[in-house]
Amino acid sequence: MEVPVTAVILAAGLGTRMKSRRAKVLHEAGGLPLVEHVVRAVRQILPPQRIFVVVGCQADRVKAALERHGVGFVHQEQQRGTAHALLCGRSELEPLGGLLLVLYGDCPLLCADTLRRLIAAQAGSRAAATVLTTFLEDPSGYGRVVRDAEGRLQAIVEQKSARPEELAIREINSGIYCFASELLWPRLEAIRPDNPAAEYYLTDVVALLRRDGYLIETLRADDPTEVLGVNTRLELAEADRILRQRKARELMSEGVTILLPETVRLDCDVLVGADTLIEPFVAILGRSKIGRDCRIGAGSILRDVEAGERVEIRPYTVAEGSLLEDDARVGPFARLRPGTRLGAGAQVGNFVEMKNARLGRGSKANHLAYLGDAAIGENCNIGAGTITCNYDGERKHPTRIGDRVFVGSNATLVAPIELADDCYVGAGSVITDPVPPEALALGRARQVIKDGWVRRRRAAKWEAQQQTSSAEPQSPEGGL
Ligand code: UD1
Ligand code: CA
Repeated sequence: MEVPVTAVILAAGLGTRMKSRRAKVLHEAGGLPLVEHVVRAVRQILPPQRIFVVVGCQADRVKAALERHGVGFVHQEQQRGTAHALLCGRSELEPLGGLLLVLYGDCPLLCADTLRRLIAAQAGSRAAATVLTTFLEDPSGYGRVVRDAEGRLQAIVEQKSARPEELAIREINSGIYCFASELLWPRLEAIRPDNPAAEYYLTDVVALLRRDGYLIETLRADDPTEVLGVNTRLELAEADRILRQRKARELMSEGVTILLPETVRLDCDVLVGADTLIEPFVAILGRSKIGRDCRIGAGSILRDVEAGERVEIRPYTVAEGSLLEDDARVGPFARLRPGTRLGAGAQVGNFVEMKNARLGRGSKANHLAYLGDAAIGENCNIGAGTITCNYDGERKHPTRIGDRVFVGSNATLVAPIELADDCYVGAGSVITDPVPPEALALGRARQVIKDGWVRRRRAAKWEAQQQTSSAEPQSPEGGL
């Protein structure tokens, strides 16, 4: 029978080195909280009822961030070290027996495959535990792996307690371990905070197990970046960079063209279809889903945007919470706020802002407009400078526009208002009453022509000048 495996993720610390009011594991890399990356990696190999997260600092927020994964939680009220954190879960975890996979919530680059290998290594050995290690050029900050004369793991020595010769060791503890559960718990109780940080170090369990005659194996992570622990803002930036680079590579391998990928910011959950082209300095964030054969113009920022196929987003478009159907065209310099919906082939041009507004199939709003709380039908033309006046200072009101409506430039549509199918609105109109089908609505002052007005004005001016100059004494040269 296969041994049961349970995972514990330690995520109760504040993370002093981040110099932040926010708990470290809530800081984001690749668009997700650090701890969520760890939970996702573990979720790939274990069901949620086998996963526990130790929470403490900002516990409610950490729990909320992980709620949808259905994992269990353990509370550590005071943060007294990694061994103490693990002990807080003893009553829940010890009865589960089997193997205990222990991880830290600040290790976001970890892959499920490495966890599988770690569990397999421990399950196939007679050791009390297997520790995931790696070699680093610069091991500072990490616990060092100290081996005995036979090359077996002897102890893990934390940076603060390490002697100079131990500091020189480049093999480090990743903070990811697989323990034989029944050997772990009794020794955790024996750990003492006798170190410069006065913390209960989980890493001390290695020396305690060795003292009792048990062996501890190590497994080396092939890719040292996978076990990067985030303690500082610098490491946060590094983790973020690596996650986004991974995402760009994944998309490129699936047939997406990315120009200057090092300038492009893609959140982990973003989906992009094959043959879509992403220009430099684009950010595609949140749960955005872009279809095939699209083009995303330079400098555009898309968050939670869903686009169909052949959608063209021209440079410097900023869009959030919007749905763009096939062949829609947006920008350059368009702003689509949440609740925007563009029908197939619809076009939104430069300096157009939309919010909670639908532009039907084939309709166009190509220049300088604000369309808010509006439902616009198919094949309409919304002229340059059109404004839906949706706010009366107290409440928001809707604008309804039917199909094949032509709204002239600089029209002001005072909501609530309805423009029926096939109507026209004259340029510069202020529209306050509903417009019936096939009507022309004009809401502006009629133009007046004053023939010869300029000639008369000039003549009047000349006469006035003559009178003042004859009243003044002439200069000897006769003046001008
Ligand atoms: C730890 C290891 C170190 C290893 C490194 C790998 C110990 C003593 N040291 O050091 O050997 O090389 O990780 O990244 O374990 N936590 C709690 N409660 C606490 C203290 C910490 O839940 O009381 C959590 C933190 O939220 C964090 C994780 O445990 O997610 C690790 O703590 P951290 O302080 O970052 O340990 P390191 O100093 O990095
Ligand atoms: Ca750490």
